[in-house]
Amino acid sequence: PKRIFSGIQPTGNLHLGNYLGAVQKWIQLQDNGENVIWSIVDMHSITLPHDPKELSNNILKMTATLLACGIDPKKSILFQQSTVDTHAQLCWILGCLTSFTRLARLPQFKEKSETLKSIPLSLYIYPVLQAADILLYKATDVPVGQDQVQHIQLAQELAIKFNKKFGNTFPSICVVEDASQRIKSLRDPSKKMSKSDQTSKSRLDILDKPEILIEKLKKAVTDFTSKVTYEPEKRPGVSNLVTIHSMLTGKSPDQICSEVEGLDTGKYLLIYKLVLADVIVEKLNPIREEFSRLIREPAYLQEVLRNGTERATEIASDSWCEVRNKIGFENDI
Ligand code: TYM
Repeated sequence: PKRIFSGIQPTGNLHLGNYLGAVQKWIQLQDNGENVIWSIVDMHSITLPHDPKELSNNILKMTATLLACGIDPKKSILFQQSTVDTHAQLCWILGCLTSFTRLARLPQFKEKSETLKSIPLSLYIYPVLQAADILLYKATDVPVGQDQVQHIQLAQELAIKFNKKFGNTFPSICVVEDASQRIKSLRDPSKKMSKSDQTSKSRLDILDKPEILIEKLKKAVTDFTSKVTYEPEKRPGVSNLVTIHSMLTGKSPDQICSEVEGLDTGKYLLIYKLVLADVIVEKLNPIREEFSRLIREPAYLQEVLRNGTERATEIASDSWCEVRNKIGFENDI
């Protein structure tokens, strides 16, 4: 049977890259009646220095944001990673099946550790914990943005390795690779839109007010051609805007380009940017409003998470028992 799992770090605000690369898809899958589990991965988010008070607020904030986007706790299991003990436990087992050199090849480690004087061990084994997240639920599908694909491939490898060594346990994982799943920075379209980017002008946050969204879009780096075309290699800036437009509306990039063909786009595509701003504002307004309602109900948010923990634990415990048995931790002779 198909089971879908994905995770998101509770760091700062959800941006449009997270939304289009992941969350929007999660909601479609949920609404199609799939068997879906979403995790707020607090353990991953402490691999870089953090403030405890802020983390604890951010967990509730992320919960409210995901619900506001359309995650429905009746249809989805939504839970906080650290409340299910077996993630860390399975991580240890999988750590025994991978090698130092294998993890060194993963690009996110290189990027994230570049600026650090002393590199936490957890940053290095981060992808192993991610693999444990996925395998613990015997997930078959993991909808993520393109930046996470290599981590899912590691999970895939570890599942195969475990199965070979200890007997068939984990299903194979389907990785969907789709170049359009990478939303770029508005300030530098050669980089991805990212929570950790110093300048907040580089990303559109889901909870940004309309004035802010419009301001950031107006300043989005494009080029000197006033025509709207979709050529990701040649014109990364405008193509990124078309990607966003296309993913929000479900129309193809070509369709978007031909729709705005006759538009006098003005200097630096200003008019096109305003057309896109309208689409974004219309999509995000109801989400922002629902968020401000939910964030005033922490007891409800906590209840949702508690319920998620219960349901996630049920599944995770079964897998963990099976793993313990297979690797010889049980001595029931
Ligand atoms: P995180 O929290 O950085 O991002 C959450 C999701 O958003 C996607 N994403 C993007 N998609 C398109 N364009 C962008 N610019 C962009 N930026 C972020 C990410 O690909 C991701 O799908 N390690 C993961 C969290 C995680 C996880 C897991 C995911 C932990 N365990 C198990 C899947 C399965 C992360 O840091 O995502």
